[in-house]
Amino acid sequence: MTDKVVLAYSGGLDTSVAIPWLKERGLEVIAVTVDVGQPGDLQAHRQKALRIGASEAIVVDARAEFAESYIARALRANALYEGIYPLSTALARPLIGKSLVDVARRVGAGKIAHGCTGKGNDQVRFDLCTTSLAPELEVLAPARVWKMTREEEIAYAEARGVPVPVGRRSPYSTDENLWGRSVECGILEDAALEPPEEAYGWTRAPERAPDVPAYVTIGFDRGLPISIDGQATDLPTLVPMLNRLAGDHGVGRIDHIESRVVGIKSREVYECPAALTLIPAHQALEALVLPRDLLDFKRSVEQRYSQLIYDGLWFMPLREALDAFISSTQSRVTGEVVLKLYKGAARVVGRRSAYALYQHELATYAEGDRFRSEMAEGFIYVWGLPARTWASLEEPPAPAPAAAPVVPAPRAPTAVD
Ligand code: ARG
Repeated sequence: MTDKVVLAYSGGLDTSVAIPWLKERGLEVIAVTVDVGQPGDLQAHRQKALRIGASEAIVVDARAEFAESYIARALRANALYEGIYPLSTALARPLIGKSLVDVARRVGAGKIAHGCTGKGNDQVRFDLCTTSLAPELEVLAPARVWKMTREEEIAYAEARGVPVPVGRRSPYSTDENLWGRSVECGILEDAALEPPEEAYGWTRAPERAPDVPAYVTIGFDRGLPISIDGQATDLPTLVPMLNRLAGDHGVGRIDHIESRVVGIKSREVYECPAALTLIPAHQALEALVLPRDLLDFKRSVEQRYSQLIYDGLWFMPLREALDAFISSTQSRVTGEVVLKLYKGAARVVGRRSAYALYQHELATYAEGDRFRSEMAEGFIYVWGLPARTWASLEEPPAPAPAAAPVVPAPRAPTAVD
């Protein structure tokens, strides 16, 4: 019996070439395209996989699960890798991996394959999530071993009747899903140069965005968006809607030197209009309803959470434990946030909540102030006690001058690797 391999199939060149490559190694290929909200005709991809030689081709609609179980968690965690990247590509990988494992079990396949190269994070994420969910499955990564250049790959494809659409000859490598678009390669590899306008696909240049701002009100219930401008909506509907609206106003562009898991620094360009609208809105509501110590502690959890998503550790107990913490912080994160979308920025300009810790009669400098300012003196006396005690003691004498330091001889340079 031929061994079966379940291939993560995007419809692009790398994963298309993978089909004949795997077949030539005696494997029966089942192509799986996971719909996480990427544009394109996925049924057409399915047909293409069959034409190229897959014995079966499946499209899995994972959009709702992606929004409700992945984006929702990332949003409640305000997840931004290195403080800037909403983890759009990273977040979809465990779900794609889980879908592959499900299919592999259903069809009795012993192997899973993906089109990632050996230089990126995505291979780490796919491999780790398969290891976590199904350690008995073997993972194959043809592009990691075939060592073909782009030209060789195209020649290999043409020789085997794999169509190479002209669009795929674009200089950029892109990845898209509901939470954002990633762009790499081509001229973007020159980190000193501004990304050319053609690299962007979801957002208008801020300078060409409308001269009139758009205001948008997002309603939250326990940390999750439930309405836009008073209209009830669910996350799988709201996110693409905001990608269009905010993207039109030039919101969501990110240009970043990123620290990859494999040690490489890479220049990454992203477009994440919905994420860069919803995260600031969620943060603003949390600032209104959560006490200072909780906000402060949660920030450290958010940073750890973002990193574990980036590192491909989604299906690990740490993620579940941090989820439990984050979830317990969200019971009062209910209310509305108003954002102004204008020329590339989404700024929070208003917020309200039944659980607001902001109380006008405590904060005001005008009529109606109920804060007991006279108590501040006693508070500061006690709060400042350690500072006063420290300052009241005499400074210790300065240390005796040290002997001349021994300067070590410079080390001979070694190769980086
Ligand atoms: N550097 C980003 C990440 O690791 C984006 C990767 C984009 N992936 C791709 N196959 N083009 O999350």
